[in-house]
Amino acid sequence: MSDLDYLKRLHRNPAPLLLELEQHGRADDVPLVDRETGRFLSTLVHAMQANRILEIGTSYGYSTLWMALAMPPAGHIWTIDPDSDRTSIAIEFLRRAGKFDDISVMNQPALEILPTFPVRNLDIVFIDAVDTEYAEYLELVVPLLKRSGLVIVDNLLPATSTEIREFNKIFLNHPQLDATIVPIGNGIGMGSRIE
Ligand SMILES: C[S@@+](CC[C@H](N)C(=O)[O-])C[C@H]1O[C@@H](n2cnc3c(N)ncnc32)[C@H](O)[C@@H]1O
Repeated sequence: MSDLDYLKRLHRNPAPLLLELEQHGRADDVPLVDRETGRFLSTLVHAMQANRILEIGTSYGYSTLWMALAMPPAGHIWTIDPDSDRTSIAIEFLRRAGKFDDISVMNQPALEILPTFPVRNLDIVFIDAVDTEYAEYLELVVPLLKRSGLVIVDNLLPATSTEIREFNKIFLNHPQLDATIVPIGNGIGMGSRIE
């Protein structure tokens, strides 16, 4: 058995609503983060007691739900996705989880919203949208983070496209971040704001 299979079997099952959402995503062939990425986000949100979270790329709200379930009671997630058909599914599940009052869904392209996004001192920004725009998202979100806040980026491995290879270099050498890339799910970048 591979280490990955071993770990898959070892972890307990996610909450029933997360399992239902995984099935929904699979049935509709809609991309969601891997379960281990969801778990990793959950642990980070718990550890940081993160209560100001910005997400770029909502889709069916699977990663949103993992983070919402881990967030402290006063927390809030702002999540961006221009596809309102997909976010209507996210809203349904977040409502069923009793978390929708803590979430703001914004149905516009991220690059339209981010330049005027009014919230500062974010604990976490999670990027999971258009990979050719990742470098632009990064420049716009780093100033929104609090010192020591985390920017987390999905889909950095395998680095097959030129855009992702370029982005990975920019990310790991960003002067305002202490950054690393870890081989969880589809490759996760994590950078903490250091200045
Ligand atoms: C990989 S999916 C996100 C999956 C989600 N994080 C989850 O785990 O449930 C990427 C999403 O980015 C959205 N997207 C496409 N263009 C976008 C843009 N310009 N700004 C923000 N999101 C965008 C797509 O509609 C899609 O739902």
